[in-house]
Amino acid sequence: MSNEWLETIVVTRRDATARIVVLELVSPDDVELPEFAAGAHVDVLVDGAAGLVRQYSLCGPPHDRARYRLAVLAETASRGGSLGMHRLREGDRLRISLPRNRFSVSDEARRHLLVAGGIGVTPLLAMAHALEARGAEYELHYCARSRTDSAFIDELEHNPHVRLHFDDGPDDQRFSVATDIGRPDPETAIYVCGPGGFMDFVISCARQAGWTAETIHMERFAPVEDAAAHTAGGAFTVRLAKSGGEYEIKEGENVLDVLLAGGVDAPYSCQQGICGECTVRVLAGEPDHRDDVLTDHERADGMFTTCSSRAHSPILELDL
Ligand code: FES
Repeated sequence: MSNEWLETIVVTRRDATARIVVLELVSPDDVELPEFAAGAHVDVLVDGAAGLVRQYSLCGPPHDRARYRLAVLAETASRGGSLGMHRLREGDRLRISLPRNRFSVSDEARRHLLVAGGIGVTPLLAMAHALEARGAEYELHYCARSRTDSAFIDELEHNPHVRLHFDDGPDDQRFSVATDIGRPDPETAIYVCGPGGFMDFVISCARQAGWTAETIHMERFAPVEDAAAHTAGGAFTVRLAKSGGEYEIKEGENVLDVLLAGGVDAPYSCQQGICGECTVRVLAGEPDHRDDVLTDHERADGMFTTCSSRAHSPILELDL
């Protein structure tokens, strides 16, 4: 992993709901933290000794370089990441990566529709702050089970650009793709973040309504549930163009693990097909894309994620 770790201190810790903790991090040297753009996330070394790395969006205003804000949902099926974050206390040290961004605000769009499901509000909250600061036209739709399950309500409910949609609320406040997203508009960008089922629903409804893939921006933070989805399939060979090395990827293995085991200095971060850090260019062969991060355009442009994708062809040549 090509990470430069940044030491931070948890300066505030607040239970925003029974399952969401909000943490604010500052530099131990009392200096500004590195710049970030709305939609960025950081890798967090949750448990230094165990080397558990998780990605969390920066959800504070991007212009506030004094502190980073994260919000973490305690996952019921946590393998230690979110629960480790919930155990943090004020004064604890936490190592994080420099901010990375694969979910930025479009420079071309005139209007911005932000659609959040649950904890997926985090990157969209930073976007709302950035759009507010630049006086842009935007709406943030925040969908959640109930008011008590929602973080940041006090920060959002008086903002005229924000619509709250609770599953247990009256029918007239429920989120509706037909009325809240409406007809396709090439000058509007849609941004979606939330649980997989929520995102699939919003995106498929928007596509059916005629919105193009280019106008829909998304970030997934939960990998596919079935780990075998990244490793099932026949064997193939990966050829590295720069070093000339060849590696056989058997059924049950993934390209990244085999390359790392072979001593190749390949980039990576999440190892779950959701961050895009392991992306390399395919020079020959037919990729079998299984990630949740690359856009159709990036795939057509030859991009390939080594942690989660495979090959339809017997040989795949990579620009590594
Ligand atoms: S390492 Fe994150 S998508 Fe591959």
